Amino acid sequence: MSDQFRAIVVDSVADVAGTGPRQRGTLRTLDQDFLTAGSDEHPAAITLESGVALDVEYSGVNYKDGLAVAGRPGVVRRTPLIAGIDVVGTVRSSPDARWAAGERVVLNGAGLGEGLHGGLSERALVSPHSLVRLPSAISARRAAAIGTAGFTAMLSLMALEKQGIGPRSGEILVTGAAGGVGSVAIMLLARAGYSVTAASGRAESEGDYLRELGASSVIDRAELSEPGRPMQSTRWAGAIDSVGGTILANVIAQTGYGGSVTSCGLAAGVELPSTVLPFILRGVNLLGVNSVDAPLALREAAWMRLAAETRFELLDELSTEIGLAAVPEAAEAILAGTVRGRTVVNVRA
Ligand SMILES: NC(=O)c1ccc[n+]([C@@H]2O[C@H](COP(=O)([O-])OP(=O)(O)OC[C@H]3O[C@@H](n4cnc5c(N)ncnc54)[C@H](OP(=O)(O)O)[C@@H]3O)[C@@H](O)[C@H]2O)c1
Repeated sequence: MSDQFRAIVVDSVADVAGTGPRQRGTLRTLDQDFLTAGSDEHPAAITLESGVALDVEYSGVNYKDGLAVAGRPGVVRRTPLIAGIDVVGTVRSSPDARWAAGERVVLNGAGLGEGLHGGLSERALVSPHSLVRLPSAISARRAAAIGTAGFTAMLSLMALEKQGIGPRSGEILVTGAAGGVGSVAIMLLARAGYSVTAASGRAESEGDYLRELGASSVIDRAELSEPGRPMQSTRWAGAIDSVGGTILANVIAQTGYGGSVTSCGLAAGVELPSTVLPFILRGVNLLGVNSVDAPLALREAAWMRLAAETRFELLDELSTEIGLAAVPEAAEAILAGTVRGRTVVNVRA
């Protein structure tokens, strides 16, 4: 096998005009030692002595990958860096006795594609500490279709359940519904017996898709986009939000007594223009969800549940496969909010 491999690499680029991105992700062919090379400023975090070497099969394009590859600030902390917050592949060699050559593994977040070389690559060298053995029910392609977005949707569902929310609690709202986190969240909630309302900016064009995933109602996100009163008529027992901003503030304001709302994303903005009133007068819980730093036991529990509770035929429908060369274009599309469901990257294509 050749010592060279292909990957999407984020490089620093000259900002001649003083505007535009100062990083950019492109497809490059790399030598094997790229994975272990460091610099004085950024010594190699993972070495051949500490890292598990993987033959990557699939990765994906999450919103964060879109930001990284399109060169938006805030994701990639050192360059050059292989992008990709998800990796699914087979162990090639491991200095750690927990892993043997040939085992199928998945890793989401844990610094991949941010400070550590990521999964949009034919090869990877990853820390053994957050690595999860792929449940046998899930193919490599389907694991990538789930990806960070689906893993986060499951973490969000588990967070709601931990607060006592169940199918009989009442209506659950999913925002950013036609996106990756939203699509998988609807599929998981509906399969578990929840009644789900999907809020989407594409309620008309994607309404049938969202109902097929299991949403019983679809609303236009414009209903939630205007600044509103901090306490509004209650509509939701719980919500899975991936957009933040005014929409999240309105969702919190419409959540009933003792209800819970998860927050994992910022597609609509980082602000949260709310007050303490829903928390102190209705006992609403706002639950933060962070997939990147999830401890191993939580990762394993979430992936076991994803293996058991994913409707794989729907997952296949909500995912689109591309090759590495198409990743820069897919990055722009996900930032433009035009991607439906999940984008899976076959790194060998
Ligand atoms: N905390 C974590 O660990 C974690 C993990 C995964 C993802 N995230 C975050 O969660 C968010 C979603 O990730 P994703 O991979 O699902 O992205 P995605 O596939 O792009 O989905 C985001 C969806 O949000 C909606 N949206 C886009 N722009 C919007 C705007 N300006 N106002 C309101 N809604 C808007 C769109 O859905 P509609 O067209 O249906 O409205 C879009 O499809 C991102 O911010 C991502 O960084 C965080």
